[in-house]
Amino acid sequence: MIICHCNTVSDQAIKAAVRQGAVTPGQAYKKIGVKFCCGKCGKCVQKVIAEAQEETV
Ligand code: FES
Repeated sequence: MIICHCNTVSDQAIKAAVRQGAVTPGQAYKKIGVKFCCGKCGKCVQKVIAEAQEETV
């Protein structure tokens, strides 16, 4: 599922970034190699990060 439409970032890409140590949306996007544009995806990114953290516990 695409979470960020500006950068075409999927939830899987965000979860992979969390597995590499990202704990904030900014860190996740840095690892993926993109930047926030409109910022509308911020809340969704946080949700995916929280889900990924639960999965890795
Ligand atoms: S949808 Fe992610 S920055 Fe716009």
